[in-house]
Amino acid sequence: MKLGVNVDHVATLRQMRGTIYPDPLDAAIIAARAGAHGITAHLREDRRHIQDEDIYRLKSLQPLPLNLEMANVPEIVDFALEINPNEVCLVPEKRQELTTEGGLDVVGQYEQLCPTVDQLLQAGIEVSLFVDPDTVTLEACRQMGVSVVELHTGSYCDADVNEQPGWLEKLIMGAQTAHELGLQVNAGHGITTDNIGGILCVPHLAMLNIGHSLVSRAVFLGMQGAVEEMLSAMAEYQG
Ligand code: PXP
Repeated sequence: MKLGVNVDHVATLRQMRGTIYPDPLDAAIIAARAGAHGITAHLREDRRHIQDEDIYRLKSLQPLPLNLEMANVPEIVDFALEINPNEVCLVPEKRQELTTEGGLDVVGQYEQLCPTVDQLLQAGIEVSLFVDPDTVTLEACRQMGVSVVELHTGSYCDADVNEQPGWLEKLIMGAQTAHELGLQVNAGHGITTDNIGGILCVPHLAMLNIGHSLVSRAVFLGMQGAVEEMLSAMAEYQG
């Protein structure tokens, strides 16, 4: 199973003070050295953390495949087509949210999502949709022609212990359904070394995208140590 490192919050720290450090590109290079398999960055409409220039640099100056997280808005879609990242993950985005709050409403926004997905696929960019693990949504993803979904793990990761089994069951069923539909199953949001044991009960996972907890651990261990710690936890729970 692969680890994608989301470097957004390295940029958050930089933007808090308007400095030129810490640089998400440095974080990506160190993550690559530590054994990560991909780099993710979310270019938000409000540019609260990652900036356009970061994406140019992450695409060309570090060795790992770049997964660009983004909302389905024309300005950012045009930017993605110009940058040509290895993968785009389409996510819902609300101005006031602290972080992405839920999966895409693929059924409700089918007509708006289809042309974007087609454009990106035709440009040779792999497209993933960030979704909650429900069957109707996953079937709509398949119908839209994407080959990858990223299951939203936030509800499980943020739930209290009594509610976690129910959310985990939903993730397990969703991953099974996605796999049967022929979709690659990625997962992300809220994953830490404390909850990774549960996450790894979910079958068919190809890649985990992890950001906030890794950058938080990097404050104490360095980025290299944080990535190595997560990779060891993944290896341990996979047996
Ligand atoms: N995957 C997606 C689609 C996200 O929106 C985020 C948050 O930016 C993540 C993964 C990473 O979540 P976290 O920062 O909680 O690890």
